[in-house]
Amino acid sequence: MVSERMASIQESTTLKISAEAKRLAAEGLDVIDMGVGEPDFDTPRHIIESAYRSMLDGETHYAPTNGIPDLRKAIAKKLRTENNLPVTPDDVAVTPGAKMAVFAAIQAMMDQGDECVLIGPSWVSYEPCITFAGGQVSWASVDQRFQPLDLAEAITSRTRLIVVNSPGNPTGAVFGRRMLQEIRDLAIDHDLLVISDEIYEKIIYGEEHISIGSLPDMADRTVTINGFSKSYAMTGWRLGYLAGPKEIMKYVSRLLSHSVSSATTFVQRAGVAALEGPQEEADRMVKEFRIRRDLLVSGLQSLGIPCAMPGGAFYVFPDVSALGGGDSFAQRLLKEGLMAATPGSAFGPGGADYVRLSYATSQERLTEALRRIGRMVG
Ligand SMILES: Cc1ncc(COP(=O)(O)O)c(C=O)c1O
Repeated sequence: MVSERMASIQESTTLKISAEAKRLAAEGLDVIDMGVGEPDFDTPRHIIESAYRSMLDGETHYAPTNGIPDLRKAIAKKLRTENNLPVTPDDVAVTPGAKMAVFAAIQAMMDQGDECVLIGPSWVSYEPCITFAGGQVSWASVDQRFQPLDLAEAITSRTRLIVVNSPGNPTGAVFGRRMLQEIRDLAIDHDLLVISDEIYEKIIYGEEHISIGSLPDMADRTVTINGFSKSYAMTGWRLGYLAGPKEIMKYVSRLLSHSVSSATTFVQRAGVAALEGPQEEADRMVKEFRIRRDLLVSGLQSLGIPCAMPGGAFYVFPDVSALGGGDSFAQRLLKEGLMAATPGSAFGPGGADYVRLSYATSQERLTEALRRIGRMVG
């Protein structure tokens, strides 16, 4: 009954584990959910109020496919001033979540049989989007700090696209200017397109975030993707965006017009408030994430579990190869410790030795998680 194309798409492991954790919690068990990729903070109040006002003002009708003009203007300004990207409002499309931006960009950029390079353990949805476009993943290996190793080896005559995701999910790795320069040189030498997924841009701990599209000659081969879910704790609002070369954006817009029509009108108004309003709450979330990161990394290391210090996002990606590998340890965490974590294998073949722990949960819960892990491995 189901098309071959759809049958090749697997269920999202992160959502599956989160559902299992919620089921156990509903049974009354004290589950610590470190499986989810969503901030545990509330959306800042001024953002909620702007959506409410917008609804009362009658902004409850269809929006233009690429987004309301005020939001496209605010996004273009943000991309120009913060990211050094030569973007006008015409180059921007707003989407219901950055996930839709990733999906649309990949469909617009890849043909049947094309290859896309993913660098080490990568966010769970890239591969299905690539498969859906008829393409294939070429996995590039990474070192112990999750920086690309021998990227050129992953490039073949069929390679069309590289995805850069810094700060990255699941590893939290941040790529510095030199690394981005190397990726840029390869993209130019091999005439490749680049997707830069910058959704964790603001959740970064001291390192500089650089948009690869701002490097010389990259603007006309890079699609930059971002969104509001992580920076402004707006996961449920479903609001993201992409900006890139006109020729690609023309087809992205057609895909959006025939699928989702547009992002929700009053949610877009909330996006304007998020970008143009006060940033203090967003900054406070990052400060809190940093404290939790330090707590979790040092806690795991003191239990003898190797764990690289992530430069951004809100995940740690410890190496549990000595504890039976990622799949088995994630099972044990849930069964023996009532802790939801995502096995690293969900993020590609390079992730099998790891589990991803999200620290989008309170310091008290993380301390309790470390106590439970200590009991399991001690
Ligand atoms: C790397 C990455 N990109 C994109 C997304 C999509 O975010 P959203 O669709 O909520 O905007 C996520 C969410 O988990 C992510 O981790």
